[in-house]
Formats: sequence, structure tokens, C-alpha cells
Amino acid sequence: MRVAITGAAGLFGYALAQVFRDGHTVYPLTRADADITRPDEVEAIMTRIRPEVVVHPAGIPDLDICEADPARAYLVNVHGTRFVVEAARRVGARVAYISTDAVFDGLKRTPYTESDTPRPPTVYGRTKLRAERITLSAPESWVFRVSVLFGPGKTNFIEKGLRRIASGETYTVAADQAGSATYTLDAAEKIREVVEAGRYGLYHLSNSGPCSRLELAQRAAELAGVDPGKVIGKPSDQMGRRAQRLKYAVMEMTALQANGFPLPRPWPEALREYIVSLSEVKTKAPASRP
Ligand SMILES: NC(=O)c1ccc[n+]([C@@H]2O[C@H](COP(=O)([O-])OP(=O)(O)OC[C@H]3O[C@@H](n4cnc5c(N)ncnc54)[C@H](OP(=O)(O)O)[C@@H]3O)[C@@H](O)[C@H]2O)c1
Repeated sequence: MRVAITGAAGLFGYALAQVFRDGHTVYPLTRADADITRPDEVEAIMTRIRPEVVVHPAGIPDLDICEADPARAYLVNVHGTRFVVEAARRVGARVAYISTDAVFDGLKRTPYTESDTPRPPTVYGRTKLRAERITLSAPESWVFRVSVLFGPGKTNFIEKGLRRIASGETYTVAADQAGSATYTLDAAEKIREVVEAGRYGLYHLSNSGPCSRLELAQRAAELAGVDPGKVIGKPSDQMGRRAQRLKYAVMEMTALQANGFPLPRPWPEALREYIVSLSEVKTKAPASRP
């Protein structure tokens, strides 16, 4: 298939492009190819490429930036998605949109399923929910809600922490945010599987097993051989963040199971593979010149 991937310079876009290259012709699109807030640019690139599927992770994923500038958040996350969906429809392409666990209210204490009613308390969550609905207004479409992402291609939560600890600093993370964690390469593979099978709809998608941010950062430190004691847990409301964080956002992958797809492996296994790949990158890097 001809597969266009928006946000290809981003963390998830990088993994999606890498994984979809196996078996498909991939068009990785960056802001330089088309600013998604400009319908003329989106239309032009879609008409030129004529993709059969558009995987759409581009957007503003930072909760605090969205909270500080709601107009920009709506422009990029909602209207940008509308422009992508409309242009895709005009060339007959189906859209797979990347959403988030932040569409929920965080008040449950058992895992959220796809049939739970979303009630996002943040600007970010509201923009993502609107974009989900725009995408799903076409019957042949997919929405994949992912959670805390880690993986190659762009500095992320894990790598940032490991670098700080390696340079002798502590790394402060929220101690009270239970959720799920998502290795971008595993999630991209599952999206490819679901897209190839043509099983449309809304999916929760992460690695298996609940996981707090604190656990994730501590386990990453252990696996990387740096001091996990340097990871400091703090209540999220004492971290000076503009947007509210969800205390509980664990997702159950009911739709994957109902459609017969095996669930992604447990997060500690995926994290181990990622940490090993980080050290391989370091080992392979050319020695710096004096
Ligand atoms: N990161 C997480 O932990 C997480 C968790 C749950 C859900 N998600 C969702 O997953 C998706 C991907 O997240 P990510 O972490 O990969 O984000 P990311 O690394 O920030 O990548 C997003 C990409 O979107 C591009 N973009 C932003 N505005 C654009 C515009 N106006 N026109 C064209 N491209 C634009 C950015 O381009 P530039 O590089 O030029 O800025 C960037 O490359 C997002 O939709 C996010 O809501 C992420």
C-alpha cells in the first residue's frame, strides 16, 4: 500500500515510518512537506502522493503548551486533523489517527475500555477527542489511543531522565500517575497489523500491564545501569505544571482482543529492548575527536 505518515520527524512518526516500510511504500511527511494547519498545503501533498492510507500522529502532544495556548492547540490538533481527513477522503485514502489516554477524566480505578465515556479535563484532551470524532466520522477509519511513548528517533521521557542521572543530577517524576506505557516500535507494528487487516474502529494501544511514570523511570535507570535512587517521585500537583495530570489512566485493550489481535508484550520487556538499543547506539557512535 501507499502509506503517508504525518509528523514523520516526531517520536511516533519516526517509528511508524520505520515499521510501515516493511511491506509498504512509505511517504514520511514533515512540516516542511505540509503544515497541517494549511489546507492548501495538505491538499497539494495528498493529491501529489495519492496515498491509500494516511497515518496521522502530527500534532501538539504537550499538555502544558496546549493549556497555555488553546487557540493554537485547536488549530493544530483539531483543524489540522480535519484538513488531513478531508484531503485524504478526496483522494480515497483511509485515515488512522493517533490519540491519547488523556481523553479520560482519570477518576476511575479500574482500566478504561474503549466503551468508557471520555471526559477530558484538559485542553489537550478535548482537542484530541474532537479530532478522534472527526476521524471516525468516516466509517473506514481508525483511532489508536496510546499512552506515555518511548522509543528511538527523538529524545523522550526515558532518555531525558537517563541523561540527567548519568550527568550526576536527580530526575524528578510524578509519583502519582498510574497509566500505561507504549514502546513506539511495538505500537507501530500493531497499527500496521490492524490496518493491513482492515479492521476499522477505535483501539486502545500500549504495552501490556499497568505502569506508573515513577516505575517506568526507575526500571529504565536499573536497566541502563545508573542509580535508580536518583529518580525522585513527587506528587504531580507539586510539579508546577499548568495542565492537570490524570492520577489514573490505565487502558484496557478490549478492541484488540475482541478483533483477535495478540496484545503487545509487557512493558518491562519492551523497555529492556529499548534500553539495550540505546547503549548499542552509543557503542556504535564514532569516538569524538580531541
Ligand atoms: N508523547 C507521548 O507520550 C504521547 C502520549 C499519548 C499520545 N500521544 C500522541 O501521539 C502523537 C505523536 O506524539 P509524539 O510524541 O510523536 O509527538 P512529537 O514528537 O512532538 O511529534 C509530533 C510531530 O507533529 C509535527 N507537527 C506539529 N505541528 C505541525 C503542523 N502544524 N504541521 C505539520 N506537522 C506538525 C511536529 O513537527 P515539528 O517537528 O516540525 O514540530 C512533530 O514532528 C501525538 O498526536 C500525541 O498527541 C503522544
